[in-house]
Amino acid sequence: MISVVKMLVLTVWFLILLKCSVEPVNQENIVTSLDKIENEKKQLISLKQDSFLSHEKTPPNFKVAIFGDSGVGRGFESVLELVKKEQADMVIHLGDFSYYLDHHYGAQIWDKKVNEILGEKYPYFLVAGNHEAPGWNSYVELFYKRLQHLPQGTCKVAQGVKDLGVKSYCNYKGVFMLLSGVGSVGIGHESFIRSALERNKSSDWKICAWHKNQNSLQLGHKPSEVGWAPYKLCQTHGAVVATGHEHSYGRTRTLTEVSNILKDHGAIGANDEVTLAPGKNFVSVIGTGGKSFRPYNCLKGALDPWWASIYTTNYVVKNREPVKPLSCVDNLDELKEDDQNTIDFGVLFLELNFGGQEKKARGRFVTTKGRVLDEFMVTKEN
Ligand SMILES: [Fe+2]
Repeated sequence: MISVVKMLVLTVWFLILLKCSVEPVNQENIVTSLDKIENEKKQLISLKQDSFLSHEKTPPNFKVAIFGDSGVGRGFESVLELVKKEQADMVIHLGDFSYYLDHHYGAQIWDKKVNEILGEKYPYFLVAGNHEAPGWNSYVELFYKRLQHLPQGTCKVAQGVKDLGVKSYCNYKGVFMLLSGVGSVGIGHESFIRSALERNKSSDWKICAWHKNQNSLQLGHKPSEVGWAPYKLCQTHGAVVATGHEHSYGRTRTLTEVSNILKDHGAIGANDEVTLAPGKNFVSVIGTGGKSFRPYNCLKGALDPWWASIYTTNYVVKNREPVKPLSCVDNLDELKEDDQNTIDFGVLFLELNFGGQEKKARGRFVTTKGRVLDEFMVTKEN
């Protein structure tokens, strides 16, 4: 009798899994279909609640493309073309996708462009930004659809599928990604981030990704909206921090005391060599995904010592060497969407296990016009 019941339960689970992987999503009714997915996902999570993510090894030269703040215009297309040209293995999109107030419509255009250039099955991970905060469900649905092409259990959420990109983490090809809405969407992030990092200590590479930032860790006028706790937690675990929101690029040296501005966030080491270890990481802002391009905030004065490389409209520095001297007189306007044919947007590429070395990575910030405006080596000490 017991074995008959067992068989029955296993059959039901099998049918649920089968249904989840093949059933098309009804785009006409976001709420209803999302709730339906929610129920299925909860069942999947409960089924696997005691299992850990796969500990797949990162392949040699595994290339991760990171950017945010794309819009869905010509600029975004040029960024996707760059990702394709660079033959990146996956994308982390740091939020602010379409900027449309009609989020459902905006999400559809965003998805169509990604599908056209990279394909429906391309591994593409999302983080919620402020511009889609009220309509995140539209993106969750598309994110979930994409996950169906990846191994089961690639991503985990705090409670339900609506937490994807908000309180979630994924592990793909040995790369742990914290995908957080901290500062943009949701509450109670700190405890989730802490437990996510604790559960994934053994991952080969760790990347903390969220949209917003702290004022001293971006190059423009953005206020501090994340708080220091997420930065500190990711530093404790030696995870790269990737953010967006400000529409320019910046990458720090190795930081050892993030939040301690009086001590330059504990910046140490060479400009073109950063270290990842417990208590050591670097922070990057990559808001150059296609929407617009902004200047360095001249009120900041000289470039703070924790920055290694920056790319803004009026100031470009590569490993502390000026490429374009600071100008606080001209070109201080934001270059907007209309200028997308002329703006040179950019992507941060991290090539993990560079040259087959398991503790090395190469970082490059490449623009859509082919300029390499940042280049650095990453050494993992843990
Ligand atoms: Fe934003």
